[in-house]
Amino acid sequence: MVKQQLLDQIRADIIAHNVCPDLAKQATNLVMGDGNPDADILFIGEAPGKHEDMQGKPFVGAAGKFLDEMLHIIGLKREDVYISNIVKYRPPNNRDPLPQEKTAFWPYLLRQIKVIEPKLIVTLGRHSMENFLPGLKISNVHGQPKRRGGMVILPLFHPAAALYNNSMRDTLLEDFKTLPKILELINKERK
Ligand code: URA
Repeated sequence: MVKQQLLDQIRADIIAHNVCPDLAKQATNLVMGDGNPDADILFIGEAPGKHEDMQGKPFVGAAGKFLDEMLHIIGLKREDVYISNIVKYRPPNNRDPLPQEKTAFWPYLLRQIKVIEPKLIVTLGRHSMENFLPGLKISNVHGQPKRRGGMVILPLFHPAAALYNNSMRDTLLEDFKTLPKILELINKERK
């Protein structure tokens, strides 16, 4: 089966298994992911917001525009990477995802990772980071790639949090600009 078919199967399973029925009830769309399933880099955000829920695609609102800008700065487009979230339904009023919601979606995210086989996983924000790097503080470890269970995880600040905070925005941009170098090192190691 090709990757897209396998990803479609994960979507179908989330619906069939009735994951987070309370979130599902009030959501317009199940937001699985967007981009190239063969990408080297997988970005993982927290959960869809209003625009993402309406359009069924991750990171299409203000934070997504900023993410696109940062990708452009390092010479990439959305079509070159894959973008998803920990939680696949919009939480009401954009509240933070609950621990049990993150736990419920975790096996499906792991399946997405297995299909995509990214060289680098970039977590966006604290909620996304916590599942991969429990116990660490994003303010201490942002921009530092970490190895966990055969995966390389790069924790970054969330673009939405950085949008209205100049110093966080600068930090996120600086961290983001190191992505090509990190990928180059991973590629060298794999040779
Ligand atoms: N914020 C996220 O974490 N994910 C989205 O898809 C949009 C905004």
